[in-house]
Amino acid sequence: MKKFAMLMAVVMMTVFSASMIVAANAPDTATVKDVQKSKPPVTFNHKAHAERIKNCAECHHKDAAGKEQSCFACHKAEKQGDAVSLKDSMHTKCKGCHQKMAKGPTKCNDCHKK
Ligand code: HEC
Ligand code: HEC
Ligand code: HEC
Ligand code: HEC
Repeated sequence: MKKFAMLMAVVMMTVFSASMIVAANAPDTATVKDVQKSKPPVTFNHKAHAERIKNCAECHHKDAAGKEQSCFACHKAEKQGDAVSLKDSMHTKCKGCHQKMAKGPTKCNDCHKK
């Protein structure tokens, strides 16, 4: 019984630290790569956004918690099946919230900085 409890403790600790490592993966700043190279890439404070929004799935809408992947995994230069283009996904999500909140950049060059 005692041995089992010990084993369980080790298992729990392993699971816990594994999820901590995944969470620590979340970048402080993120740059969304410019797939078409027609506009400068967009860099933003990922950490500040995550802390303010408090819900990773608000942006990482298709990912399981702790398994967040790049938007670019599904949103490509052109629409792929149901997934809108990277540009449309970003403009809807990012600019959409800034407009709704009347906070954060909404002008082209405030996001696409040279
Ligand atoms: C809130 C930030 C934001 C604003 C404001 C914004 N964009 Fe974007 N835009 C992005 C992001 C993020 C991407 C995806 C990364 C990229 O392609 O540079 C993108 C992609 C694009 C692309 C695809 C280009 C490429 O190289 O892949 C074009 C074209 C574009 N935006 C034009 C505009 C224009 C024109 C405006 C102003 C009317 C504008 N954007 C305003 C964030 C923004
Ligand atoms: C405001 C929207 C937004 C929020 C909120 C957000 N993220 Fe992100 N995250 C992004 C964008 C955009 C990227 C860059 C994606 C790309 O390059 O296509 C990114 C990138 C990442 C990456 C790197 C993925 C890779 O494969 O390069 C991880 C990991 C990640 N986010 C985890 C998180 C976690 C964990 C949270 C919550 C604590 C979170 N994100 C909250 C938008 C967001
Ligand atoms: C695993 C694939 C996948 C990933 C990763 C993903 N998306 Fe999506 N996204 C989709 C699909 C598929 C749709 C089509 C509609 C739906 O099913 O919600 C979509 C739709 C959207 C829409 C709605 C567009 C509209 O006009 O209705 C937005 C905005 C969006 N994604 C933003 C993002 C952002 C931002 C990220 C990264 C933080 C991201 N997505 C990551 C697959 C993905
Ligand atoms: C749910 C709302 C929300 C979403 C979604 C969101 N933002 Fe923001 N963003 C904000 C707010 C609020 C501010 C202003 C923060 C301040 O003024 O302190 C901001 C500020 C910014 C800034 C200026 C400060 C900084 O972080 O560098 C940039 C650039 C930016 N956002 C880019 C993006 C991009 C790119 C995306 C999409 C991947 C995005 N935002 C999605 C709410 C949002």
